[in-house]
Order: sequence, then C-alpha cells, then structure tokens
Amino acid sequence: MKNTTNTPSILVTRKLPPAVEERLERDYRCDFNHDDVLYSASEIVERAMQADAILCCHTEQFDADLIGKLPDNIRAIANFSVGVDHCDLDAARQKGIIVTNTPDVLSDATAEIAMLCMLGAARRAGEGYRMVREARWRDWSPMFMLGSQVTGKRFGVVGMGRVGQVVARRARGFDMEIHYHNRRRLPEAMEAGAIYHDNLEDLLAVSDVLSLHCPNNPDSRGLLNAERIALLPAGSIVVNTARGAVVDDLALISALREGRLRAAGLDVFNGEPEGIHPAYRDLDNVFVLPHLGSATEETRDAMGFRALDNLDAIFADEEPADRVA
Ligand code: DGY
Repeated sequence: MKNTTNTPSILVTRKLPPAVEERLERDYRCDFNHDDVLYSASEIVERAMQADAILCCHTEQFDADLIGKLPDNIRAIANFSVGVDHCDLDAARQKGIIVTNTPDVLSDATAEIAMLCMLGAARRAGEGYRMVREARWRDWSPMFMLGSQVTGKRFGVVGMGRVGQVVARRARGFDMEIHYHNRRRLPEAMEAGAIYHDNLEDLLAVSDVLSLHCPNNPDSRGLLNAERIALLPAGSIVVNTARGAVVDDLALISALREGRLRAAGLDVFNGEPEGIHPAYRDLDNVFVLPHLGSATEETRDAMGFRALDNLDAIFADEEPADRVA
C-alpha cells in the first residue's frame, strides 16, 4: 500500500527496532524519530497534523489536554506497550480515537525480569555486584553476605493476568508455593494449584515474596501502602515489575530501612527515570533495574509487529485485536 496518496501516514514517536521500522517503511508513509528525542506535547500535536495515526510508547503522556489538541485526522494511537496508563482512554474515546496496546508478547520477558528482581533482592545481588566492581571485596567467610533462599517459600502474585500467570509458572520452578489475588478467580486448570485469596489483605499475610503485576489505574494506585506492608510477614521481599505508581514509595522505603522488609527488587519507579526517590539509589537492600521488563530483542520486535498488526486492521476498517479504547 506504500506511497500512493491513500497510504496512511504514521507518526512514530520513538526509534523502534530495525525490523519494525522496515515493515513500517514498507507499508506506510512514516515520520520517524531517528534521533530518538523525547517529543514534547506541542511537538506531538504539530507532527500529528500530517499523520493518520500515532505509534507511541509509555514515555509520552497522552493526557486529556494533549488528546484534546490532536487534529481530527488522527484515527488511532497504537501503543508500543501493554501498559496504557500514560493514555487518557476516556479522552480518546470522546474524540473517537482508537487506542491499542501490545499484550501477550512481553509476558515471558517481563517474567524473566521479575525472577531476576526476586533473586537479586533475596541474594543481595546489587550489594555484591557493587562490592566486586568497586574493589571492596576482601574476604569470604561462612557468614559473608548471607541472603535468603527463595526455594520452597510462598510467592504471592497481585494481578494474575497474562504476566502474573507466567511469573507464577517460573516461580514454581523454584518449588515455591503460589498464592494470588485477582479481581476474578481463574479457572482451576489455569490456577495450576495456585491458592486464590479473594481479598488482597489475606494474600499479603502469606507472601514471603510479593510480586506486583496489576495495571496502574485509579484502583491500584498506591496499593502497596504502609498499612498493607505491615500485613506482610516480617522479612518478606517485594518485587515490582508493573508500574511504580502501584507502590507508596515512602512506606516501602521506611519498611526497608527498618528491616521490616528484607529487600525489594524493583524494575519500575514513580518519577522514572530521573525523578525516582533517591533512597532507591542508596539502600543496600534494594535491587534496582531501569525498566527492563520487555527489553529483549525478541520481545521488542514482537511488540512492534503487534502494534503494526493493530494499525493494519484499523486501516483495513477492521477491529484491531488489542483495542483498549
Ligand atoms: C509496557 O509494555 O507496559 C512496558 O512497561 C514498556 O512500556
């Protein structure tokens, strides 16, 4: 469909993997961002004047103000992400803009990072890594840098959606006992022996490791607060690969400082990247990563192709598979 006057034009807000940009180039007229600069809201609006759809990432905030200013030629916002908390879906609906996301394809990659965060926190990997790199490692002794073994412990999943289910499978590989809380109980076959808790508080009480996998929305914002942290078993570990907003930073940091929680493994943060709470950079019992959940070559290609499948459907006047608004 390339290069006829009818070929739809796509504003691509970030640099994407080569295979994804090749397919975009083949099938659409594209406004690429080869230098990968972060566009301001007004730059997006200006560039959108020439576009029929926008392919964007969670790094751009499509709030009601920006969506309200988009020109009427914009038919769709195809997200290169499963999370859509950066997009005001109601504002898009009101303006008749279709919004899609990229579920499924990043579940394995994110589950890998959740395991890395769990092990990094439990086995003090951040602390040990820094010690070796900074030439501060002096000795080995039977009492040197003891962590906590996760094998056989209880693993609590908040949000047993696509990612939560893969994470639970991986945790089973460590012989962990799986517990979960979800809006709805899964069918027995999908539970695979996981124990359902119909309220979050009950789940917290049995979670030696608590792993967050719920989307960021008004119901989940600040969900892990001081009251709930107090319900976790003493010395438990918190893993967050969902969104920073699900955690109350001050409450988590104070529980980590006091030692009520043994450790945390965090891939996502409020205010990321630069505005994260400074305590996360300093605390020894926090294992941190820079939002790497979906950052594998395979997954980033798959996310791009999924976003393009959605755009292809929209411009063929079909219902896109991953419509969220
Ligand atoms: C997602 O897909 O939501 C990841 O966090 C990257 O944006």
